[in-house]
Parts: sequence; C-alpha cells; structure tokens
Amino acid sequence: MIAVNTVKIVMGSDHGGFELKEKLKKWLEKKGHSVEDIGCYSKESVDYPDYGAKVARAVVGKNRIGIAICGTGIGICMAANKIKGIRAALIYNEFTGKMAKEHNNANVVCLGGRTTRFAQAKKAVNAFLKAGFQGGRHARRVRKIMALEK
Ligand code: RB5
Repeated sequence: MIAVNTVKIVMGSDHGGFELKEKLKKWLEKKGHSVEDIGCYSKESVDYPDYGAKVARAVVGKNRIGIAICGTGIGICMAANKIKGIRAALIYNEFTGKMAKEHNNANVVCLGGRTTRFAQAKKAVNAFLKAGFQGGRHARRVRKIMALEK
C-alpha cells in the first residue's frame, strides 16, 4: 500500500492503553503509515509518565507526531507536556482530533484506552491526521503557549 503521508508516527502507552495502542497501530500500518512503537509491550503494569516522556522525546525536534495512550489519556498527556517543545492534546472524537491540529498544532495526541472505544479513537486520530494547522490568530496563541516554557 502507498504511504498516506511521510510523517512518522511514534506510539506509546502504559498497560491501560496497551490494547487500544495495538489496535490503532495495526490500523495505521494498514493505512500505510510508518509507526514506531516505543512500548509498553504487554498488559503488565507500568508507569505512564515513563511512556509519555518517551513518546515526547522521540517526537520533539523531528518531523514526527506522537500518539500516547493510558487509561484515561490524562496522565500520559500531563507527562508528555512536560517535555520542551511538546504540545500534547487529549482527543476523544472527530471534533477534538480536528481541533487539536487546526487550532493547537498538537504534535502529540493522547487517548484513553479505558474511556474511548476503538471506533471513536479511529475517528479522532483520522481527523487529526487529515487536518492542517490554520495559523493566523491560532499561530499567535500557540506561540504564547510555547513562550510559557521560558
Ligand atoms: C493506570 O492505572 C492509570 O492510572 C493510567 O492508565 C492513567 O489513566 C493515568 O492517567
């Protein structure tokens, strides 16, 4: 299958997001995306900050986007956002997926394996991948977010 776009996708999860990560990974690869899976690799209990940071570090400064999944998507999103250069956004449907890119220019999206079903997660991720950053007033706002890192 021809690659949909050339942006590499880095995926990571804790045990609470493991099943959804596996399903989304297979679906994305089938669509032609190149996916790097940084773990975890089983349902054994692990700590979500480790995986949020790992996804974020694999994305920052590179032409990549990240998908980070824990039970709710909340904790792994908090962790990813601690890494300089990261704009991680919790998404859970088509609208939040679209807005995360159009308004916030997110470079990591986070999902909840225990809160968002696969069908809904696919819609959210698909909307994010299809969307484009709108710039303009949103660029000013995103610059203000990034200035908070200083
Ligand atoms: C792990 O039990 C759970 O706390 C984690 O997956 C996540 O929901 C944290 O925000």
